[in-house]
Amino acid sequence: MDVRILDTADQIAVAAGELFVRQIKTNPQTILGLATGASPVKMYQYLISQYRNGYLDFSKVKTYNLDEYCDLPRDDKNSYYTFMHENLFNHINIKEENVHLPNGNAPDMAAECASYDKMIADIGGVDIQLLGIGTNGHIGFNEPADTFTEGTYKVKLTDSTIKSNSIYFDEGAMPRFAVTMGVGTIMTAKKIVLIATGESKQNAVYAMVRGEVTPHCPASILQQHPDAVIFADRAAAAKLL
Ligand code: PGA
Repeated sequence: MDVRILDTADQIAVAAGELFVRQIKTNPQTILGLATGASPVKMYQYLISQYRNGYLDFSKVKTYNLDEYCDLPRDDKNSYYTFMHENLFNHINIKEENVHLPNGNAPDMAAECASYDKMIADIGGVDIQLLGIGTNGHIGFNEPADTFTEGTYKVKLTDSTIKSNSIYFDEGAMPRFAVTMGVGTIMTAKKIVLIATGESKQNAVYAMVRGEVTPHCPASILQQHPDAVIFADRAAAAKLL
């Protein structure tokens, strides 16, 4: 695990963004694993600026997102489909057919999950996977549990995740289920980049980096990944300093 502590979220956006820029410049047909939430937004802005400067071309890039809510229309303002378009896809030259998110409204969820994993495996796996971390140590929607999850699956969200994310929803409208890549799927990525900022992530970052590898902190599995880079600002890294 390569832990890089920087002063500000803006510095992290550039440093993490540069890893993605380099990957796409090296291989224009890169397979990106992408994340939603507050953590990646500034990095997406950096990638957009590099595209606008004429430095990056997304025309052959394919993307696979970590997760999506269940029981929320795809075009809902809070869907991850909408989030990704508003924060990245609408501002770069990626082809819509190259954009993938799991379908949280699929009639047969088991088939949807199996086909999402198969799609990723068939194209040779994700080259570089972006992650945030939940205050409870979750990655994607893999919540603390007694065992590590494997492939993509439908998950019941924990109270702490519902509390964190319900700020975006009108009262009572927060979905209770989501579909997410499993920890096993995430770990197949060739490179993983995790961004953690702010004091609320202190305990999760400490458990991920210094704690034992345990499904009670799903992000701790990244200690076993051969190429995981963790970017934390000083607030998120406070307990490591
Ligand atoms: P955040 O969420 O980026 O909005 O803090 C991260 C996560 O819950 O994985």
